[in-house]
Amino acid sequence: MRKEFGSLLLATAMVLAGCATHGDAVDACLRVAQRGLRPVAGDRTERFLGKVDEDTARCRGGERAVTARSVPWTDWQNYWATADAGSRGPGSGDTHLSENGRGIDGALLDLEYQRIELIKFNLFDSGGTYADYVRGRDGVAGPALKVWPEMRLPKGHPLYDAVGGDQAQVCGGELIRFRGLTGLCNDIKNPLMGSASMPFARNVQFDVTFPELGQNELARNRHGDRLGLLKPDPQLISRKLFTRAQSQPDRCREGHGLPGDSADASCDYKKAPFFNVLAAFWIQFMTHDWFSHLQEGHNAPGTMAVGCAADAAETLKCRPGDRIDPSYVAQSGDPASFTHRDRTYLTRPPKTTSNTVTAWWDASQIYGYDETSRRRVKRAPGDAAKLLLSPVGQRAGGGERLGYLPLLEASDPMNPQWAGQEATAFPDNWTIGMSFYHTVFAREHNLFVDTFRAQTARTPDADSGLRNPLRPAQVIRYRDVTADELFEVARLVVSAEIAKIHTTEWTPQLLYDEPLYLGMNANWSGLFRGRELVQAALEKITVNNFGRSTDAKKATQWYSVFASGPGIFGLGNRVYADDAIFAAYDPAKTDLWSLSNPDHVNGGVNHFGSPFNFPEEFVTVYRLHTMVPDLIEYREWNADPNRVRTKVPVVDTFRGRATQAMRERGLANWALSMGRQRLGLLTLQNHPQFLQNLELPRLASATGKIDVAALDLIRDRERGVPRFNEFRRQYGLRQLASFDDFVDTRLAKGSPERAEQERLIGVLREVYGQHRCDVAKVITEAQVNADGTKINDCLGHPNGSLVDNVEDVDTVVGWLSEFVRPHGFAISETQFQVFILNASRRLFSDRFFTSSFRPEFYTQLGVRWVNQNGPDARMEKGKPNGHEMEVSPLKRVLLRTIPELAPELDSVVNAFDPWARDRGEYYSLEWKPRRGAESDAAFKEAR
Ligand code: HEM
Repeated sequence: MRKEFGSLLLATAMVLAGCATHGDAVDACLRVAQRGLRPVAGDRTERFLGKVDEDTARCRGGERAVTARSVPWTDWQNYWATADAGSRGPGSGDTHLSENGRGIDGALLDLEYQRIELIKFNLFDSGGTYADYVRGRDGVAGPALKVWPEMRLPKGHPLYDAVGGDQAQVCGGELIRFRGLTGLCNDIKNPLMGSASMPFARNVQFDVTFPELGQNELARNRHGDRLGLLKPDPQLISRKLFTRAQSQPDRCREGHGLPGDSADASCDYKKAPFFNVLAAFWIQFMTHDWFSHLQEGHNAPGTMAVGCAADAAETLKCRPGDRIDPSYVAQSGDPASFTHRDRTYLTRPPKTTSNTVTAWWDASQIYGYDETSRRRVKRAPGDAAKLLLSPVGQRAGGGERLGYLPLLEASDPMNPQWAGQEATAFPDNWTIGMSFYHTVFAREHNLFVDTFRAQTARTPDADSGLRNPLRPAQVIRYRDVTADELFEVARLVVSAEIAKIHTTEWTPQLLYDEPLYLGMNANWSGLFRGRELVQAALEKITVNNFGRSTDAKKATQWYSVFASGPGIFGLGNRVYADDAIFAAYDPAKTDLWSLSNPDHVNGGVNHFGSPFNFPEEFVTVYRLHTMVPDLIEYREWNADPNRVRTKVPVVDTFRGRATQAMRERGLANWALSMGRQRLGLLTLQNHPQFLQNLELPRLASATGKIDVAALDLIRDRERGVPRFNEFRRQYGLRQLASFDDFVDTRLAKGSPERAEQERLIGVLREVYGQHRCDVAKVITEAQVNADGTKINDCLGHPNGSLVDNVEDVDTVVGWLSEFVRPHGFAISETQFQVFILNASRRLFSDRFFTSSFRPEFYTQLGVRWVNQNGPDARMEKGKPNGHEMEVSPLKRVLLRTIPELAPELDSVVNAFDPWARDRGEYYSLEWKPRRGAESDAAFKEAR
């Protein structure tokens, strides 16, 4: 197989050799082709690390890519055509054999190797199944297991008998129709999986968690006695490394702006030119759906100190008197261990925590995740299929009649600090952005219901597509669909729309380059259409390494998942007699999928041997507080959108004041304001000062305040997230040998940008310090040196030399320090590595995105609505970045829910790209106005 593919590439390269002008690169391609595809690592110490050999780098990116091999960062970002127009190769066109084609195909292959190895090496369930994962069970290898005793409902659970009691548990009937409130029965054979209060998983080996406990020799060698919950001091780190400096402090006033929201206020922040404030709040909105450690807005009883030594207080303005409630811990005490093939493993980390919301992408922040949160979800009194929305005031605009969410009432379950907020399932850390998205998707929910009802009026006796698993053969006509059923169908549709927006619109703008555009769309709807070489190579990689299996019940399904081609969304929702369960849709074949067959209903999910939940490390990389600006540049849609009328402090739009601001100024104006404004870059010294001084009245501390940026570090330490260098090694990325590795050496020496990076590295060194290293101290088992020797405390430096304490860097600080990034990446490559794994997992594991994405659950209209981004299909004008594309899903939602924005949205391609930016050619990041926005003052500011 390997040889066969080698010959294919060889032929390819021969063709190239005939026409190319770049002989070195072509020779390199020939040698790469002769060697064939690299195998997937058999052991974690042999992992890919995103680094390729010299020939491969030269073939895919020329000399620039070869030079960049010496830095720790992944190589694909230096291949041809992976950045803006300047990265495109001198050869003509985008054919697979051109420089550009080789660059893009090469990047996609590198990313797929990373994903496959992440799934292979980074799944660690904390809930008791890990021993089975390592040892296997009843002759089945661990990664091929699909059902776990730990995911059964326990005796005494109200649904215990309904799912089979002490027999094999299989959910059925009403329990599998829709997204269950608490997330039960998404996987019908593992009822508890992903439900509220299940433990967070890990993506790192258990024995590297909680490094400050020094529980093993490697941890002690790695960190000496330099770490503790408050060591290095989190408030000191926050003030030195996180604070956003202000050139005009009197006009910013720590984020409080000027009286009357004067437009003369000014707060500096480092901005991302290609990502807007709507994108910042989008991701906060998402995290409220995916995970939370808190219960009803609070942590465990009691309070604890949070650092700031007395001497630092004076110079750095931190507060020794701050206190915070400690994180909840689900399990603690020495974890049990087990032995397999002469190796001892822990069964869980020293402590575990619970995800208090459902882990599913089920819009639980809107619809609820337990009985308490559901009581805050208000349905329309006249139509139980709808959410309660009422018009407020007499503002102009077609969307106004669609209404606003009601406020929480005294009788609602409520934390006192939520008083005055909109009533919704997840009310914590309520911002203007949360108010915005909750209102938009409540409107969308109701619009879907209206459209369904209109269809019912037109064709009352037609088949809605919906079925009841208790009577699978019985057609449910439009007129038969009850209000409660329609409510749940609308929830399914809204959840899937949100997942689609996130996967195909938010992420490709967060990672604004061609490989990621292709990769994310492939994730959603199909494998690299039009990139035959990548598809052929991927098939070879999976077959060579995991074998071919067309039987869905067999093995780990690597072949079907990675090589069959239909994408993750809808995977397994057709069943053909003569084909693998994950065959691509073929209208010529008879679809055998049956609601009565649990293996069809559930057959599309893939957990790869480890029950799904988010890992603790995922929360770490979503601590994106630097994205928040201090002031929102407020505009009005019907009175010169180019004019910033006022500057509204974000801190004044928090909790109940968000609701007030929404009602006073209206959804359209907030959409426009946040749509046009750039968000804050994820980098050092870019946290808003108001978050460092946030009032948290529920804590009866001397200061009544908390530094959220410092808390980000404390929480990670409480939950045992490994520090940055080991984090990278665990995730299959190359370690750093010193803080200097953070500096982008592609920048000219002495350039202002490089000088600024070097200054920040100086601060990093001052905060984390250095020590004399000892080569005798081995610090990790996750990787080895290039020569096969063990990695030691000196990280390649001579024994006894003074080395940076790069091992001690808190992971959040580490990824904020990554100045080297692939083009258009708003996040760092370390964060991205965590996303590659978990972004696919949450689609792979969810029946409603795979084999149950069917009219039997969603209705015919629902399936169409998700596939077409609304009731009908629409294509975007022109070919943005060379692609024909549908009008993007969030743009469609906004056009429906805030129709008065149609003129503004006309030139918007991606709702998360600043709305008045001229996108220019091929993935340009330039900050310049589109036609008609020349007078917008935002474009007069520097990047
Ligand atoms: C004005 C805006 C915001 C405020 C006031 C705010 C406030 C807070 C506070 C007080 C916490 C600490 C909870 C605790 O551990 O006790 C927190 C946690 C967190 N925030 Fe924010 N936040 C804001 C925006 C954002 C944004 C834009 C994101 C983007 C993803 C974000 C992501 C997170 C995450 C991931 C956590 C950890 C949650 C957990 O541990 O379960 N926040 N935030």
